[in-house]
Amino acid sequence: MVREWDPRTASADELRAMLDSLNAVLMADLPDDPLWQESYLREYLAETMPGERRISWLAEEPAEQGKPAKVLGHANVLLLGDIGVVELLIHPKARRAGLAREMLAQAARKTFHEGFSVIGAEVVGGTPAVTFFESVGFVREYTETRSVLRLNSVDWLTLGEMARGIGAGYRLEFCPGGPPDDLLDAYAKAKAELRDIDDGDLDLRPSSYDPQRLRASLDCLHRRGMKPYIVLAIHEKTGDVAGLTEVVVPAQHPTRADQYDTIVAQDHRGYGIDRAIKARMLFELRSAEPKLAEVQTWNAQANESMLKVNAELGFQADREWYEYGADVADVLRRLEHGA
Ligand SMILES: CC(C)(COP(=O)(O)OP(=O)(O)OC[C@H]1O[C@@H](n2cnc3c(N)ncnc32)[C@H](O)[C@@H]1OP(=O)(O)O)[C@@H](O)C(=O)NCCC(=O)NCCS
Repeated sequence: MVREWDPRTASADELRAMLDSLNAVLMADLPDDPLWQESYLREYLAETMPGERRISWLAEEPAEQGKPAKVLGHANVLLLGDIGVVELLIHPKARRAGLAREMLAQAARKTFHEGFSVIGAEVVGGTPAVTFFESVGFVREYTETRSVLRLNSVDWLTLGEMARGIGAGYRLEFCPGGPPDDLLDAYAKAKAELRDIDDGDLDLRPSSYDPQRLRASLDCLHRRGMKPYIVLAIHEKTGDVAGLTEVVVPAQHPTRADQYDTIVAQDHRGYGIDRAIKARMLFELRSAEPKLAEVQTWNAQANESMLKVNAELGFQADREWYEYGADVADVLRRLEHGA
């Protein structure tokens, strides 16, 4: 029943069945999240960064006469760097029958044969995935809190003050689509600072720090139907990127945007840049993306200053979000021999 599946060549019916299953999972596990749309779904599932590969599997319920088959389970593993990142979705009506174990076994076997020794997964707190991944030997390595900001609850007057409350000598630039080519080097340099902070996460969603990789990453986002918006704080004297904040509006759920990196370079802290760039971003999003209703962000508990600014903007903590990791061979042993 489980078969390898390539979204690049999948039929429209298969993609639609995959979407129905994904939305059934969302309704069961994350009922406050927006449902996904079909727009750019194929590209979202198929496109990767150069050097990365995603391998996918489907489990289907046999089709009734004249009707397309229903998707009961979907798994994929993204092979990146030295880790395979697995995603698993089992339709609520097909749960507790061992399907996730079967699909994970396929993904882990492939990951192992491709030469990877570590496997990771993002797991949403308060869902059955926590017990599932722990039951097959995954260990929780890192915890973040997801917070959501509802644009209709924003105090735009206060936000205006925040956007203007930046120290002298800096100017803000709004860059829909990504940083302009002439700022790419300075942008990559600012992002490289973040790389030096080892906060213990598993890098399941690695950031890009050199100009070439950054360009490739922006191209990949566009191909996947995910539109990046950036606000930069430029230090006028040096032309340095003193701060940046990135938000992505995905075609698959355009009412809820994802906050990516926000960085204020070490030498430029204490000038109100974090507040100002995020506040300016919300103003820009309000006019550029009329359908947008919410922005979601993920922060480590230890990142107190960012949590404080997010709370001032109106973000409200929603759920814990975990990174789990495991030794692939160990997971396989458990799944294949019950060890
Ligand atoms: C987690 C998930 C993959 C499990 O799928 P499943 O097919 O039901 O899992 P299995 O039947 O293979 O379960 C294997 C073991 O996991 C554990 N487990 C799974 N679901 C569980 C639950 N609801 N409560 C307690 N244990 C659970 C049990 O140990 C189970 O073994 P058992 O049934 O013999 O007790 C599925 O619930 C799912 O798709 N969740 C959504 C995943 C996700 O990413 N959600 C967030 C984004 S939308």
